[in-house]
Amino acid sequence: YSEDDKSEDYLFKIVLIGDSAVGKSNLLARFARDEFYPNSKSTIGVEFQTQKMDINGKEIKAQIWDTAGQERFRAVTSAYYRGAVGALLVYDISRRQTFHSIGRWLNELHTHSDMNVATILVGNKSDLKDLREVSTAEGKALAEAQGLFFMETSALDSSNVAAAFETVVKEIY
Ligand code: GTP
Ligand code: MG
Repeated sequence: YSEDDKSEDYLFKIVLIGDSAVGKSNLLARFARDEFYPNSKSTIGVEFQTQKMDINGKEIKAQIWDTAGQERFRAVTSAYYRGAVGALLVYDISRRQTFHSIGRWLNELHTHSDMNVATILVGNKSDLKDLREVSTAEGKALAEAQGLFFMETSALDSSNVAAAFETVVKEIY
């Protein structure tokens, strides 16, 4: 086998979900390309990016799918979730409404995918300390109640971005 053939054995589909503007596309941009867009536009349809990861010395490929949080821009839901083995369920710590929406996103995930999708609850924009509306404790409590991993991240300053993706992939792998 070539190196490529070997890594094909470990191709994991991971989906990003959560309300519009919570930072899903920027989490992916930071993780896959170490880029950040201060004025990024809403995603239209579906985009995905394949990222090589080294997990315990093994090379695996994460195929990370990103879609619009806004209903009118979303692609057919069942196709988006099909085959997913991991999910990042994202809210914005500076907008409580996006935290309230988590239940709805979790329902959608459970409706369209296996119950055993490795899922992490992600409170993004941890850099916005003065604008925080959702405490770390609240995020942690919801994650515990729903049996999810939990992390606060910042796509802006990079904190915990790789760790959040790695948590999901390690659980799958
Ligand atoms: P949709 O595609 O509409 O679902 O939105 P999205 O979840 O992909 O959000 P996106 O990544 O486009 O980010 C929305 C806005 O939040 C942009 O202006 C980003 O620059 C900003 N943003 C994303 N992540 C962070 C972060 O960690 N910190 C701060 N301060 N801003 C962020
Ligand atoms: Mg987007």
